[in-house]
Amino acid sequence: MRTKTLVTLSMALLLVACANEQPPVQEAPPYQIVTDIRQTMEWVLDPAVDVIWDSAGTIISAEGRTELAPTTDDGWSRVIFAAATLAEAGNLLMLPGRSLGDDWQEYAAGLTEASKLALTAAQARDADALFDAGGRIYQVCRACHNQYWADARDD
Ligand code: HEC
Repeated sequence: MRTKTLVTLSMALLLVACANEQPPVQEAPPYQIVTDIRQTMEWVLDPAVDVIWDSAGTIISAEGRTELAPTTDDGWSRVIFAAATLAEAGNLLMLPGRSLGDDWQEYAAGLTEASKLALTAAQARDADALFDAGGRIYQVCRACHNQYWADARDD
């Protein structure tokens, strides 16, 4: 009788233990952080955004107006590649090992959102929408720099 009670009790405990068991922890994908923040800016974000900014708007000079929007398939393709790089760069900035906190995550997400607008604009070959997206991207760069670059300089 006593043995039976013990067995029942331990089975009950076992059930409780099983119910409390957490699902196995998902292992993080084996990504490697290759570039530090500064290098990511200089080597990934900056070259990509230059393609977008150099492809949007109008230059007015003594010689007249120059529209910067691409006029060839290749030109638009380069903007698409740059916008896709920049959109994914937002994700790169979010990775543990690069991210500096909650606000950082929002700016990084903002970069992806604004770059998606540039991507859509380039796919549609919409020069005005590309110009607007370029402005949005600029604002995100500025906003993050205002908060995080000043800190980096003060160190
Ligand atoms: C999520 C935050 C964040 C966003 C978004 C961001 N930056 Fe930065 N950026 C930084 C930080 C932090 C530094 C300072 C890095 C350092 O000095 O260590 C920096 C520095 C830079 C630098 C200077 C690198 C150097 O050589 O000193 C450039 C250029 C730059 N960013 C370009 C950009 C551009 C262009 C964008 C937008 C397309 C952008 N960044 C968006 C955080 C951000």
